[in-house]
Amino acid sequence: MTAAGFASLGSEVWCVDIDEDKIEQLRRGQSPIYEPGLPELLAKHSARLHFTTDLPDALQGARLLFVAVGTPPTHSGDADLASVHEVVDSMPASDSHALVMKSTVPCGTGASIERVLRERGKDGLSYVSCPEFLKEGSAVADFLHPDRVVIGDGGGWAGDAVAKLYEPLGAPLVRTDVASAEMIKLAANAFLATKISFINEIANVCEQVGADVVQVAKGMGLDERIGPKFLQAGIGYGGSCFTKDVSALKLLAGNSGYHFQLLSAVIEVNELQKRRVVSKLQRHLGELAGKRVALLGLAFKPNTDDMRGASSLVLAARLLAEGVHVRAHDPIAEEQARRLMPELDYAPSALEAVEEADATILVTEWPQFVGIDWRDVAKRMRGRIVIDGRNALDGEAVREAGLTYEGIGRGACRQ
Ligand SMILES: NC(=O)c1ccc[n+]([C@@H]2O[C@H](COP(=O)([O-])OP(=O)(O)OC[C@H]3O[C@@H](n4cnc5c(N)ncnc54)[C@H](O)[C@@H]3O)[C@@H](O)[C@H]2O)c1
Repeated sequence: MTAAGFASLGSEVWCVDIDEDKIEQLRRGQSPIYEPGLPELLAKHSARLHFTTDLPDALQGARLLFVAVGTPPTHSGDADLASVHEVVDSMPASDSHALVMKSTVPCGTGASIERVLRERGKDGLSYVSCPEFLKEGSAVADFLHPDRVVIGDGGGWAGDAVAKLYEPLGAPLVRTDVASAEMIKLAANAFLATKISFINEIANVCEQVGADVVQVAKGMGLDERIGPKFLQAGIGYGGSCFTKDVSALKLLAGNSGYHFQLLSAVIEVNELQKRRVVSKLQRHLGELAGKRVALLGLAFKPNTDDMRGASSLVLAARLLAEGVHVRAHDPIAEEQARRLMPELDYAPSALEAVEEADATILVTEWPQFVGIDWRDVAKRMRGRIVIDGRNALDGEAVREAGLTYEGIGRGACRQ
């Protein structure tokens, strides 16, 4: 996305990846990920986009090396910086190049990379932190209309060069030091995750007291100090970023001697939230062994094929452990899901997934599921239970089809 974005702003962009298949795919003009609008952008600016597996090729043509390699969690939950270090190690000494860190890294990474560069006599290389805030599913719009651009550096030429690249977007610019830029990214993701876990806890209380969390969130969100976004209760946040960044920030704090208590709760609430659907099913269906459950959607959110950290992984595993026959459909993420959950029964369509199901669970709010004709669903299911894991369905339409609707935290609605 970064490459296509900068090409669309007029830059020549060289993209380097160690994955030869990915580079081949990109050379053929294919996007290796499902991201609406990205294939069109790649095609439109293909003349300015060059793909290679060879870093020196790219360094001949470019001064700024945006590092966008993965920083997945290690077993301990810290960020794995092996790929970042690989890139740093492969950089030649140079006074005219800069490393610009787009990968999400723990606060302090920039300082330790600058130390390594000094130790190796490569301190001519500049270092800039430029964290990425785009969302999967709306990456193109987020690149072109960012809420802000954050640039952290020590005040050399490279920070100015990065700022100039982003200038045509007219976004608010935060120029700061490297450590603060790194922290902005982690803190922003941790805050969003906290908002989600907060509304999920409110939803759980709503279920006890007969309130409807959708109405509660609406009333809360109209307060400008709170805002309406990230107040949708559901079966927990997923995706690669929130899960790993919240854990990385918690551990970063712990490693530096501070116990970040709030984040421990955010993580625990999210884990439990994914599992609460199982007890909802048990309340409706009793013993789950031998029952058939349909999952509508598997990706961690609509408009992406990303399965990293998806709530469906935990939910499906829990259902299988209870002896449930799980049949699932996702319009885009099936290939990725099959690699992670080969034991699931995959259906080619939503209506085939719900065939003979005792219960149907909306896991990912793809528009085609939200707009499905529930009378068709009711005809195919053998049971009546529909659990709306994202509070995205029209409960009335589900009930009018003769089905039993249950959302998350919709106590009043259920009565
Ligand atoms: N995915 C998002 O929406 C998003 C949003 C904001 C920030 N980020 C951050 O951006 C970074 C990348 O995320 P992603 O989702 O694109 O990860 P990804 O795993 O999908 O892609 C990383 C790519 O880096 C390549 N790579 C690994 N080592 C390399 C090396 N030494 N040289 C060249 N290429 C190498 C891999 O082959 C892979 O293609 C992460 O730190 C992530 O936290 C991602």
